Amino acid sequence: MIRSVAKGAGSYLPERILTNGELAKMVDTSDEWIQERTGIRQRHIAAENEKTSDLGEKAARRALKDAGIEASEVDLIVLATATPDRTFPATATRIQARLGITHGAAFDVQAVCTGFIYAMATADNFLKSGQFKTALVIGAETFSRILDWEDRTTCVLFGDGAGAIVLQAEEVENPSNQDRGVLDSYLRSDGRHGDLLYVDGGPSSTQTVGHLRMAGREVFKHAVVNIAEAIEKSLEHTGLTIDDVDWFVPHQANQRILTATARRIGLPDEKVVTTVSKHGNTSAASVPLALVEALRDGRIKKGDLVLMEAMGGGFTWGSALVRW
Ligand code: ACO
Repeated sequence: MIRSVAKGAGSYLPERILTNGELAKMVDTSDEWIQERTGIRQRHIAAENEKTSDLGEKAARRALKDAGIEASEVDLIVLATATPDRTFPATATRIQARLGITHGAAFDVQAVCTGFIYAMATADNFLKSGQFKTALVIGAETFSRILDWEDRTTCVLFGDGAGAIVLQAEEVENPSNQDRGVLDSYLRSDGRHGDLLYVDGGPSSTQTVGHLRMAGREVFKHAVVNIAEAIEKSLEHTGLTIDDVDWFVPHQANQRILTATARRIGLPDEKVVTTVSKHGNTSAASVPLALVEALRDGRIKKGDLVLMEAMGGGFTWGSALVRW
């Protein structure tokens, strides 16, 4: 059997920081309201000339360096983004070219905030099938470009950023849930809820890019239930229990969702990796951004069991169990 083993990780946040205080000068909001309802203190905003591919490339280069793997070894790039540089070609192919890779395949996946989980599951299945050997899985977003900066109910929540991991196929003789690598991924979607979180533009509908629209309270209600369901499935598939989980690396949308989810699944706060206060909701970039922080500060170590989850527009949701 083949396992997709994580070899390295990297992330990138744009230099410019936008604080809650600055936002309070732009729309009718306050630092207190944002912190109390979301836990967010600041977000990073891409520079005018900085695109999703630039953020993704930086995170990818850092992940390759961390893995000690040359770009030329990569034969698959799966980029999760809802904010591509252009409608086409896929932003993944721009990153592929900049990394000097001319073999293999590169493509984007679109599952909004669940994008990284979808991208990792896609890469994992390609590696397990033997079709590719070394994959770059990237989540990169410039949500600042699709926000309505006059809508206080959404513009305070999101930010820009990127994160990436390198997965490599490794043969295992007697597979068990103690192996390093992606042990399970569980993906879901339910398109009936498409109108609760969406962008009101697109090439075939308005010929514009559009702005993000969200019924926040409704999304909140679905989030905790859906995420908990995905986590239960991943544990069930692997025969592991919540007590086996060393670190919980959730999608960083809102502190209240993180806390409520951890309680529901019975994980103590000390095992929850939380970075939402520093960069807000960066959609597909948020899981790898949190992952990299916990790797860098030494919390996540080789062999630790890491539980990841996300939920986003569509709705899409999912989880993954990775032994690092
Ligand atoms: N500043 C001040 N007041 C605000 C702001 C703001 N930025 N935004 C909304 N309000 C007001 C509303 O207008 C409302 O006022 P009213 O009572 O006079 O009508 C009041 O605050 C309460 O609004 P609610 O929407 O009920 O506030 P709630 O406690 O639900 O918090 C929030 C809103 C933070 C959006 C919450 O619903 C939430 O987190 N939802 C989940 C959204 C999310 O995380 N989405 C991402 C997940 S999927 C993905 O990542 C793509």
